Amino acid sequence: MRYVIDRMTMADVPRVIEIERLAYPSTWPPSAYRKELQDNRWAHYIVLRDKQLLDGEPTTTVVAADQEKPRRNRLFPLSLLPNRPAISMPVPELASILGFAGLWLMVDEAHVTTIAMHPDFRRRGLGELLLASLIDIAYEIGAKWVTLEVRVSNYSAQNLYRKYGFREAGVRHRYYSDNQEDALIMWTDEIHSDAYRQQFLALKADLYHKLEMQ
Ligand SMILES: CC(C)(COP(=O)(O)OP(=O)(O)OC[C@H]1O[C@@H](n2cnc3c(N)ncnc32)[C@H](O)[C@@H]1OP(=O)(O)O)[C@@H](O)C(=O)NCCC(=O)NCCS
Repeated sequence: MRYVIDRMTMADVPRVIEIERLAYPSTWPPSAYRKELQDNRWAHYIVLRDKQLLDGEPTTTVVAADQEKPRRNRLFPLSLLPNRPAISMPVPELASILGFAGLWLMVDEAHVTTIAMHPDFRRRGLGELLLASLIDIAYEIGAKWVTLEVRVSNYSAQNLYRKYGFREAGVRHRYYSDNQEDALIMWTDEIHSDAYRQQFLALKADLYHKLEMQ
């Protein structure tokens, strides 16, 4: 398959933040990612990469005049990034990231904290690949249920979650501080139940088939 899921590392964070800015009305500071990746042993974060971009040329040729052109497959030290043009990432490893997602394990519940695709790469099944990968992680780390909050107006995300068996279980009023919007609380059934597992495996098989065609 053209796409791969990798564990998020600190080197990925500049690109993650770039996508986050395009996907959400408000964003986490970089320090929040540092805490999540380095200090929170219950947190699991992933990035989705397009191997064609990873193997190919950088998508952007804009490089600050005082910096030498990046060598392929070489990351710049993060400390250089703030002074670089903000438009996009000139290094294949970073430019190849199209989306990201994460969850926390709380006892036996996996709480999805974030999931976002770059707007130019939506409606191809890749948000679904991120969610399916989070559910795979939920199985690996021994969670029994997966839960999340979603804006009441966010029908695309709600459709994605319903497809994967999430159901509405309540509302958190004025949960989002930017516009006081309510959040729907959604939960899966027990993911180890035969019914859930079978539905999940069937959805994943269809998804992988679809992505193989791309
Ligand atoms: C939610 C999001 C991750 C979906 O990513 P995506 O790559 O476009 O989604 P996919 O192409 O994998 O779609 C999977 C399913 O999601 C639902 N869906 C996605 N986009 C949709 C849309 N615009 N309208 C209706 N349903 C949609 C559908 O059920 C779809 O399944 P289908 O292809 O069988 O119809 C993406 O829209 C996004 O990044 N949004 C901004 C960030 C965000 O809102 N995150 C969720 C926070 S709770």
